[in-house]
Amino acid sequence: MALAAGLDPLRLAELEARLQAGPRLSVLTGAGVSAASGVPTYRGGGGGMWRGRRAQDLATREAFVADPALVWEWYDERRRRLAVCQPNPAHATLAVWSRQLSVFTLITQNVDGLHERAGTRNVLRFHGSIWHLRCAGSCWPAPAPWEDLRPALPVLPPRCPACGGLARPGVVWFGEAIEPSVLAAAEAAVDCDLFLAIGTSAVVWPAAGLLAAARACGAFVVEVNPEPTGGSHEVDLVLRGPAEDILPRIRLAPSS
Ligand code: OAD
Repeated sequence: MALAAGLDPLRLAELEARLQAGPRLSVLTGAGVSAASGVPTYRGGGGGMWRGRRAQDLATREAFVADPALVWEWYDERRRRLAVCQPNPAHATLAVWSRQLSVFTLITQNVDGLHERAGTRNVLRFHGSIWHLRCAGSCWPAPAPWEDLRPALPVLPPRCPACGGLARPGVVWFGEAIEPSVLAAAEAAVDCDLFLAIGTSAVVWPAAGLLAAARACGAFVVEVNPEPTGGSHEVDLVLRGPAEDILPRIRLAPSS
């Protein structure tokens, strides 16, 4: 396999050496880690647009209140497309590392569930899950979000089984707070030895702030991304290339 364009083997070796030392590893992933699985990113190549609307305009409480059926059609279409996507070699590599390293946390901004399907341990869903629903009606925020893995929901918009009001996707929308327990766990995870930011443009907060926070805690911060990002200036090492190409090249066990 040829090295990805612009990828320096010495940089790859540096990350490999740090991983082989058995670090406390924390990983932040974004849409780019799922690109090779066929999931469009939000900010590139026409991703993020649906029927002429921007994802940022659909993924809001205001959009849902104004037209729940429309917002649910968008999520329904995404669920149906995601249901046929498979984890790619980047997800698979992270899943292996999650089982081999004793202190491992993966913070994902993705709602697609592909890290979990790859078997990754200790995943923090920073922006929730598209496979969860929760009540948007009078009993919000109870009951707890419930899982529904059916690619196509039988009735749109779906209803809350407890109160009969509207159900909403179990994701974090623009303008909403991150679930406090998830935020606290992510903030704790930046206190690590090695922090990888993979496939994220690092422009959406508070996730984008985790890179600088990890560095402030003394972590060695690495970016894996084919393009420069909002976080590139605050990392110690940049690996330019697709995650599905770079991550499987890195051996965790020292060669004998
Ligand atoms: P973006 O779409 O903003 O950025 C995707 C990143 O992935 C870009 O930096 C690409 O260069 C990179 N990329 C593309 N292909 C890649 C590959 N094969 N390997 C590695 N990287 C690749 O997605 P996010 O940063 O995840 O929030 O966006 C953050 C948040 O903004 C999302 O969680 C969502 C969105 O609006 C909410 O919905 C709240």
